Amino acid sequence: MTANTDLLALRPYRLDDADRLTMLVNDPDVTATTSSIPFPYARSDAEAFLSQVRNESGRKISRAITMDGELVGAIGLGPRADDNEEIGYWIGKAYWGKGIASWAVGAFIALLDEMEVSGPIHAQTMQGNEASRRVLEKNGFVYVRDGACTTPARDCVTAPSHCFVLER
Ligand SMILES: CC(C)(COP(=O)(O)OP(=O)(O)OC[C@H]1O[C@@H](n2cnc3c(N)ncnc32)[C@H](O)[C@@H]1OP(=O)(O)O)[C@@H](O)C(=O)NCCC(=O)NCCS
Repeated sequence: MTANTDLLALRPYRLDDADRLTMLVNDPDVTATTSSIPFPYARSDAEAFLSQVRNESGRKISRAITMDGELVGAIGLGPRADDNEEIGYWIGKAYWGKGIASWAVGAFIALLDEMEVSGPIHAQTMQGNEASRRVLEKNGFVYVRDGACTTPARDCVTAPSHCFVLER
């Protein structure tokens, strides 16, 4: 059963998402707390991302988050270096504080259930990213330990993080 609502939905990416992705992601407030997105973020970065996610299979699952049919964010799951599955997400800054990430994480987990993707889901937030921590905790993730992560948007400097897991 899909968890989409009249207003909010998760959908596969389309090639014509490139402009919207570029506009929303090319924002230091969005990229600075992610572990994989560079800043500045050019249209060519969006095109490379779209070509990658539109061809992916197996353990990588990516969805656009839409509100009223318009792309407002992104969410995905994929294997990390230690082979655990990690979730990641961002919401365009103009749309923060509306409950979208909280909804999207829950809907994405429901989608994984539907796709029969089982096993624990890991997550990592930079220390101080209280909004992301809250989003995870509201969706049943539990803090497990402190860690460290790097972000290309901040010259890959190592920053302290909090590690979470959702057992399922
Ligand atoms: C983190 C992020 C995804 C949150 O998206 P969002 O749609 O604004 O989140 P929501 O509105 O669903 O929920 C935010 C929650 O955090 C809380 N929150 C926000 N800022 C907070 C702060 N400074 N301290 C404590 N809680 C805070 C909100 O009150 C809300 O909790 P509530 O529903 O209990 O009131 C968004 O800020 C973002 O994209 N940031 C940049 C990218 C990023 O950090 N991604 C996550 C990487 S781990």
